[in-house]
Amino acid sequence: MYRVFSGVKPSGDFHLGNYVGAFRQWVADQREHDAIYCVVDLHALTEEIDPAYLREKTYEAAVNLLSVGLDPEICTIFAQSHVPEHPRLTWLLECTATMGELRRMTQFKAKGYGQETVRVGLFTYPVLMAADILLYEADRVPVGDDQRQHLELARELAQRFNSRYGQTFTVPQAAVPTVGARVMDLQHPERKMSKSVDSPLGTIYVADEPAEIERKVKKAVTDTDGEMRYAPEEKQGLANLLELMAVATGETPDEVAARYTRYGDLKQELAAALVELLRPMRERRAELVKDPATVHQVLRAGAARAHEIAAATYERAAAAVGLLGLGC
Ligand code: TYM
Repeated sequence: MYRVFSGVKPSGDFHLGNYVGAFRQWVADQREHDAIYCVVDLHALTEEIDPAYLREKTYEAAVNLLSVGLDPEICTIFAQSHVPEHPRLTWLLECTATMGELRRMTQFKAKGYGQETVRVGLFTYPVLMAADILLYEADRVPVGDDQRQHLELARELAQRFNSRYGQTFTVPQAAVPTVGARVMDLQHPERKMSKSVDSPLGTIYVADEPAEIERKVKKAVTDTDGEMRYAPEEKQGLANLLELMAVATGETPDEVAARYTRYGDLKQELAAALVELLRPMRERRAELVKDPATVHQVLRAGAARAHEIAAATYERAAAAVGLLGLGC
């Protein structure tokens, strides 16, 4: 069966970009494929994070994935650190990747390039991500646009490993949505909406109350020429709003642009559409927070299933490179 794998880092609160770029696809994929979704807590250690905060956000991530509409009866949800093969395979892949290719990763360049105090884990993090994917023999990896380069690396490492040691890994494909692959910050539409950037007014969190969503959309930065058209290069703020409306209604951004003449009307209707889009999540989350036993049980069952798959792949890879198995 076709296998889908993806992950989210519990380093902060989930936002509309995560929902539109990733979770929306995850929910659709769970019905058609063998879908495995991971809260990648080890990735959150690549930057400063308070231990209690990490624990809390990892738990909340599981709650959010359930409330977004993932059904643990038909897909697998687990925490990365519960499956020890992730760091184990990472080592084999670190001995496959090169310094040069990791230095070219744009996310590393943006966050840590040239700083002596940056954590080694931030540099090697794309290899851990490749291990996440390759362990599950994923055919398809639904992600937002910012993960494309990491996916390319995962493909490259799989191919290199296979040609060096024999067929071991499935070479994964990135699945990036055509609309909403890069949701931009509402206050700084030249940069993506992000968990790690402090932009309270520019970021819509999935847990925001309707009044907050309305306030943020109303204050979103657009432009002064007042011309309603979809032009992502020239009119980034407006293009972002048109794309979000397109996601909410299933139209194209151009079709949305054709329906409005005034920015204010678009904003007002977009705010209402986003409130509706996020409403089911808000309601399910309110139920789930009252039921931690269910959330923990989902993570335990998910880890057991994930471990079964990951252990088999890891053993194959370890044998391929020449590690002496315990069975000798
Ligand atoms: P993370 O936690 O930053 O984001 C989770 C998912 O949300 C998408 N995303 C966005 N999509 C559209 N617009 C945005 N502004 C936006 N911001 C985030 C991301 O593309 C991602 O799909 N390295 C990954 C997590 C990871 C992973 C993996 C993903 C670790 N291992 C294996 C897939 C497969 C990350 O930090 O995503």
